[in-house]
Amino acid sequence: MLRPLASGRSPTPGLFLGLIITLAAVVAYSWYITVQISGLRQLQNHLAGRNRKDSLQLLRIQNDLNSLALAMRDMLDNDEPYPLTAWSAQFQRIRADLDDALTLEGQVALAERTPEQRQFLGNSMAQFWDAVERTFALARDGKENDARTEIRVSLQARQAGLSTAVARLLVQNNESEEQVGLRIGQIYDRVQRQVYIFLAAILSAILLTSLYLIQSNRRLFAQLAALSEQRSELAQKLISTQESTLRHISRELHDEFGQILTAIGSMLSRARTQVSEDSPFRAELQEVSEVAQSTLDKVRSLSQALHPVMLDEAGLESTIDWYIPVVERQNGIAISYEKSGRPFPVDANVGVHIYRILQEALNNLARHSGARQAWVRLRFLAQALELEVEDHGAGFVESSARSGIGLVAMRERAQLLSGSIEFLRPAEGGTLVRLRVPIDKTEPHVP
Ligand SMILES: Nc1ncnc2c1ncn2[C@@H]1O[C@H](COP(=O)(O)OP(=O)(O)OP(=O)(O)O)[C@@H](O)[C@H]1O
Ligand SMILES: [Mg+2]
Repeated sequence: MLRPLASGRSPTPGLFLGLIITLAAVVAYSWYITVQISGLRQLQNHLAGRNRKDSLQLLRIQNDLNSLALAMRDMLDNDEPYPLTAWSAQFQRIRADLDDALTLEGQVALAERTPEQRQFLGNSMAQFWDAVERTFALARDGKENDARTEIRVSLQARQAGLSTAVARLLVQNNESEEQVGLRIGQIYDRVQRQVYIFLAAILSAILLTSLYLIQSNRRLFAQLAALSEQRSELAQKLISTQESTLRHISRELHDEFGQILTAIGSMLSRARTQVSEDSPFRAELQEVSEVAQSTLDKVRSLSQALHPVMLDEAGLESTIDWYIPVVERQNGIAISYEKSGRPFPVDANVGVHIYRILQEALNNLARHSGARQAWVRLRFLAQALELEVEDHGAGFVESSARSGIGLVAMRERAQLLSGSIEFLRPAEGGTLVRLRVPIDKTEPHVP
């Protein structure tokens, strides 16, 4: 019982969609990752790098400020034999270094710093140096004590203020570095989350597409199997119909036309005996009688070619016995014919298919193998009837092995008989066709 074919919907659009979704996900994800990585690089190079450079300059400033504090303490201690002006050169050196450090710091300082902060540092620094100059001016005028008071009252306080401001900036830098670290950590977390989502999405797309592919493949294979079954059934029906038609025509030719021609022949013979020996009419009658006889022969051989009457009357074994020498004669091939086992009768409807398979195998042998010798074996086995046709010729050539319909028909006939057919290559090369029909199929049916 055949299943009706499902309406054939091509799986291509679905597969195409799956492919596009997968590719789009990969492209979108790659773009996303690229953006995140460049953001990370920006954060690390730009912010973190500048922050570090800024901190270095701030430390340099802090160091200079400490040197100034130490110098001022020495000036106040007054246990050196030098006048206060002797420190002037050291102050100038520190000032040059501080100016340099402040310029560099201004270049790398982050934009986050407020203008007030910048101005405060610059102004405080300027005020400090003004006070320094005032102090050294007092010292130069010989007012060492006034100068010392200036140091104690003004300079030390200003230096302490500057140190605190720089320390605050350093703390701010540290905090901003921590924030950058935090932001980098957040980016990593986000990217990691996206990786999981992307993996889940891509796996689902692949899974769905694969499931769809498997499903449509199964549908296609089922359709193919059903179609193949239908085709085989149709071929077998055609073969059966063809055989019964040929058999009918062959019988008609043999029985009806054969009888008519035989009757015409005997009527002509009788007519001839009634005509005098020397009459020219007698010779013409003889000629017509010969024409009738040769037509009768032709009708008989045509009938035989369409469907050997012998199959129905004498059985398969005798038909093959008769057929082998005919092929030898017609094709000039030497055939070694062997029979083995205890012969059993074969139903004519089965015999005709075995006979056709033998015919096609010998035809192919003559046409394609190039061999001049063949072996035909008919084996009556306990469970089956086996027929082999072997040649040691060219053998099957892959490329040309699907041009004709002969092999297809042989297979269909074998299937009609619930038998099997094999196309093998003997050790010597060439082709061996082996047909096997189960014995229960060959038993004659009593009508
Ligand atoms: N005995 C053989 N030796 C070598 N090649 C063979 C033999 N039998 C069949 N073939 C190869 O198998 C092919 C298919 O055979 P098949 O009988 O199906 O087709 P065909 O004989 O070419 O045509 P058709 O039988 O339809 O008239 C042949 O064309 C031939 O190449
Ligand atoms: Mg053929």
